[in-house]
Amino acid sequence: MSDQHGTIESHPLQQPEGVETFPPADAFRAQANVNDPGVYWRAAEDPEAYWAERARQLAWSKPFTEILDWSNPPFAKWFQDGELNVAANCLDRHVAAGLGERVAIHFEGEPGDTRTITYAELTHEVKRAANMLTSLGVSAGDRVAIYMPMIPETVVAMLAVARLGAAHSVVFGGFSAESLRARIDDAQAELVITADGGYRKGRVSALKPTVDDALALGGGGSSVRRVLVVERGGNEIAWTEGRDLWWHEEITAFDGDHSPQGFPAENPLFILYTSGTTGKPKGILHTSGGYLTQAAATHRDVFDLKPETDVYWCTADIGWITGHSYVVYGPLANGATQVMYEGTPETPDWGRWWSIIQKYGVSIFYTAPTAIRACMKVGRQVPEQYDLSSIRVLGSVGEPINPEAWRWYREVIGAGTAPIVDTWWQTETGAIMISPLPGLTTLKPGSAQVPQPGISATVVSEEGEPVGNGQGGLLVVQRPWPSMVRTIWGDDQRFIDTYWAKFGDRYFAGDGARLDEDGDVWLLGRVDDVMNVSGHRLSTAEIESALVEHHAVAESAVVGADDETTGQAVVAFVILKSQQTLLDAEDPDAAEAALKKHVAAQIGAIARPRQIFIVAELPKTRSGKIMRRLLKDAAEGKEIGDTTTLADTMVMQTISDRVRAER
Ligand code: WT7
Repeated sequence: MSDQHGTIESHPLQQPEGVETFPPADAFRAQANVNDPGVYWRAAEDPEAYWAERARQLAWSKPFTEILDWSNPPFAKWFQDGELNVAANCLDRHVAAGLGERVAIHFEGEPGDTRTITYAELTHEVKRAANMLTSLGVSAGDRVAIYMPMIPETVVAMLAVARLGAAHSVVFGGFSAESLRARIDDAQAELVITADGGYRKGRVSALKPTVDDALALGGGGSSVRRVLVVERGGNEIAWTEGRDLWWHEEITAFDGDHSPQGFPAENPLFILYTSGTTGKPKGILHTSGGYLTQAAATHRDVFDLKPETDVYWCTADIGWITGHSYVVYGPLANGATQVMYEGTPETPDWGRWWSIIQKYGVSIFYTAPTAIRACMKVGRQVPEQYDLSSIRVLGSVGEPINPEAWRWYREVIGAGTAPIVDTWWQTETGAIMISPLPGLTTLKPGSAQVPQPGISATVVSEEGEPVGNGQGGLLVVQRPWPSMVRTIWGDDQRFIDTYWAKFGDRYFAGDGARLDEDGDVWLLGRVDDVMNVSGHRLSTAEIESALVEHHAVAESAVVGADDETTGQAVVAFVILKSQQTLLDAEDPDAAEAALKKHVAAQIGAIARPRQIFIVAELPKTRSGKIMRRLLKDAAEGKEIGDTTTLADTMVMQTISDRVRAER
C-alpha cells in the first residue's frame, strides 16, 4: 500500500513580517568550531569529499575507498567497503586516547538518585553486556527489541547490541502492548530488553507487564525467546520461568574482556518505527558508517561542542530518533559529557530541569518547543530562581518554534545571549539536516534557516520545479546524505512509494516549507496525514483504525488541530454503531472517556485524543472521501472552508455547532 501525498494547495503559507535577526556575538564566533563561511561552498562543490573527510574522523578497522554508491537509487550505500565497530567508536576509542576518566553520563534519576559514569566504566559495562548477549545467542544480523526507561542501562543495551553487529529496535516506553508487539513481530526480534519499571511523575510506571501482555497477544507465539529485565522500579512483576532473566543476575557471570569486531559500513545499526500516513508504522532502517558520521559531525558543529569542557544535555527520550542520534550516538562518538535525566520536567516541581542545569553546569541544552511553551506557561519566575549562567548554546527540535517561544527561550534560559539552533530533521534523515550554525548564522526566530554543509535541501513546487526566494512549496533533499534511511524494514516498495515516487531521485520529506527573501528555509508543517503532537509524530490513519477497532465505533476521522502547548492535538470525530448499548451516546462524556482510554490502550498514551466528538455523520465528498480539512477547521474553531464539494453540505454545519458548544 502506498502512502498518500498531500498537496501544497491545502497548506496555508505564512511568514511573519519584519523579522528581527540576531547575528552571532564576536566572542562566540571567534571560538566556534565552525566559523569560516567557506565551509558551505566547499562542501557544496564536492559533498562526497566533504562527507568522506567527516567519516575519516571516526575510527575504521578497515578504511573505505568508495564514498557513495548511488547506482541503484533510492538505495544508497555510503563508505560500503569500509568496516567499523560503532560501539568501539563511542567507547573504546576514547579510552584508548586516554579519556577513560572523562564523565560520559551524569545520570539523574527522578527520585533523586544519581550515578556518574566515566567512559572507562561505560566501556566496561558495554563489554560485559556484549558478552552476556552473546551467551543469549545474539549475533550479527539479529534484532533486539529494547523497551526501557531513561536509565544508563538503556544506553548500555543499545551499544552492546551494536557492538555485536546486531540491530536494535527501541520502542518508546509509552507505547502500548499492541504497538510493542507489532514492532517485535515486524522486526522478528528474538530478545526483548526491558525493566521492571521506571520513574515518571513521582511514581513507578511499570514496563515489564506491558512486555508480558505484548508477548501474550494472539495466544502468544512470537519470535521472542528471552526477556532480559533490568531492575529499576522495584515494582512487583510476573515471571515466566525459562523466558525471563534478570539483567543483574546474568551479568555477574561476565567480565569486561571483549574485542570489538569491525562490521561493514552498511551493516544495519537500528530500526526505529515511526508513523506514516497508513495505519502501519514504518520501520526506518539506519546503518552504521554513514549514520555515525553525520550524527557525530552535526552534533559537533551545530551545538559547537567542546568535549573537554562542555556539559551537554538533550532532554529527548531514547525511544525517539532524537534520543538515538543526540543522546546516544552523536555525543558518545564525540566523547562528550552529558546529563541523562529519567523523569518529567514537573517532578517534583517545574524547577527540576533548571536545578539540573545549575547542578551539573549544563552548557548546551537541547529540547522541544512544546516543553518550552509549557515552561512559559508556568512562568519565568521558576527558571529565574536558578543559576543558568553555564548555558552557552540552546537547541530546539520537533516542530517549528514559534518566535514568541524562541524569544523566551533566549531571554530566560539563554541570558539573552545564547544562540538558538532550530534543527530540522526527521526519523528518516537520521541526523540534523537544516539548522543554523551558531558561530556563523544570523539567527531568525522561527526559521531553521540553512541546510548543513554537504546537505542539498530546497523547496520545490508540486511539479518539482525549484521555487524562488519568497515562495513556498514542498521540502526536498536533492542528493543522498550519509545518515539517510536505507529502506523501510521488509518493505522496499513502501520506501520507494513514500519518499521517492513523487520527485524521482529527490527525497520528499512530507513537509511544506518556504524560502524567504534571503533563501532561508521556514518549515510550515506536514502536508500529509501525519500529526505532530508535542514533537512526536502520529498518524491520523493509525488512530482512526484504533477507534474503529472499538466495538461501538462505526466510523472515525482524526485530525491534528492547533494547540497552544502541544503544537497540534489529536481531535477525533466518531460515528457510533446504531443501537449499540455499551457506549451510551446519551452520556457523551462517558463515551468520550471510554474511547480516549481505548486509543491510549491500543497505541499508547501519546495518542490519546484531546477531544472526541460523537457525531451522526462525517463530511464526505460525493465519492465518499472524508474531508478532514473541514474537520480541522471546526476543531480549531475557525470559519469552515469551502464545503461545495460535500455530498451533504449541512453535515459540517451540524458538526461545527457541536464543536462550538463544547469550546
Ligand atoms: C517531523 C519529523 C527530528 C526529531 C524529532 C521529530 C517536524 C522536526 C522540526 C523543526 C519544523 C520540525 C517535521 C518533520 N520537525 N523538527 N526544527 N522545525 N518542523 O522526528 O518524529 O521523525 O518527525 O517533525 O514536520 O517532518 P519525527
